[in-house]
Amino acid sequence: MTSSISKFYEKNLDERLKVVRELANLDLEEISSLKKYAALDFDTANRMIENVIGTTQLPVGIATNFIINGKEVLVPMALEEPSVVAAASKAAGNARASGGFQAKADEPVMIGQIQLINIKDLNLAARSINEKKKEILDLANSKDPTLVSFGGGAKDLETRILTHNGKQMLVVHLYVDVRDAMGANAVNTMAEAIAPMLEEISGGKVCLRILSNLATRRIVKAKAVWKKDEIGEDAVEGVLNAYSLAVIDPYRAATHNKGIMNGIDAVVIATGNDWRAVEAGAHAYASIDGRYKPLTKYYKDRNGDLVGEIELPMAVGLVGGATKTHPIAKIAVKILGVKTSKELAEVIAAVGLAQNFAALRALSTEGIQKGHMKLHSRNIAVTAGAVDDEIEAVAKVISDESKVNVARAKEVLEELRAKKQ
Ligand code: MEV
Repeated sequence: MTSSISKFYEKNLDERLKVVRELANLDLEEISSLKKYAALDFDTANRMIENVIGTTQLPVGIATNFIINGKEVLVPMALEEPSVVAAASKAAGNARASGGFQAKADEPVMIGQIQLINIKDLNLAARSINEKKKEILDLANSKDPTLVSFGGGAKDLETRILTHNGKQMLVVHLYVDVRDAMGANAVNTMAEAIAPMLEEISGGKVCLRILSNLATRRIVKAKAVWKKDEIGEDAVEGVLNAYSLAVIDPYRAATHNKGIMNGIDAVVIATGNDWRAVEAGAHAYASIDGRYKPLTKYYKDRNGDLVGEIELPMAVGLVGGATKTHPIAKIAVKILGVKTSKELAEVIAAVGLAQNFAALRALSTEGIQKGHMKLHSRNIAVTAGAVDDEIEAVAKVISDESKVNVARAKEVLEELRAKKQ
């Protein structure tokens, strides 16, 4: 077996499948599963990435009950984990009594970083770059007249002097309003375009030219109030206690934020956006002041109702990338009814907050395993070999017994089949 396959990318689908089939010892059923396409057909998929041999599918569920900035919104969520869609819907339902979620996104400004090394006088170089700001921004904007015509483009720049292992470097931050794009392509093109000019002005040498995923100029915030009469005082206190632990303990903050990302990633993926970029930005932002912290905060208002807030960078777009090529992503955007990248960011932040509230409430009251295992029991039944009606029947027994494991599911399935004979 070797993974060194000459010109795999030049092979057609059948040739690629033949190679993989032989090397990985796949049977005909497995090959036929790989050949099953859903809305995303082979040609589209093959244009999106390299060496394609198939596609994978995730369930898309609709989270209900969301009111965001006064608008009723249906939220498509793509993910594999049971309970997440139900939990977000429930949390959104509980927030309706106080008008749902208020959310506000910054203008869509991304940061491009250009790293300059081997500079003799860093302060002089920084000053010269700032003096030539207009020429640099003009050059950047000449690379994307369409973006500029929509009101976007490179708007500003800043210089930073950084030191590592005694070596100094100058880092230029280029601030680009990317309008309704995620922005990586626009920013990277501009960063590469201005690099030679920066070398000339600074007398240094350019190393990196790439956007930063820590999009601190593209922050989104959302807020909701859960009335104590709606959720109960125990839930208010429970969420506050759970939140306290996340504030003081990074071990808890990581899980707290994972729950937020359950909701955020699901919408980011459903809309064909780059969830790794959003994840990277979220976790870097969570530790921006040197300690890893929760991305949400909770407090009680004057009435004793629970207020939840979320704040994080949100680099998502509606144009470019998979958002416009993946057929399901296009439908997800249509279901959401969002018209700008800012609106999409606002929905995503609201879902992240709802997801987090739902998790903290469940964890601090009845726990999450009961509901979760009930849903998970169906997966376990399938893993044990149940088909058709057997799935519900086996799932019910193992869930009622609180024995949601494959071994017990197999026993139940055997008993069920024996009874049928
Ligand atoms: C599980 O996917 C997410 C939770 O662990 C989040 C949390 O603990 O807050 C339930």
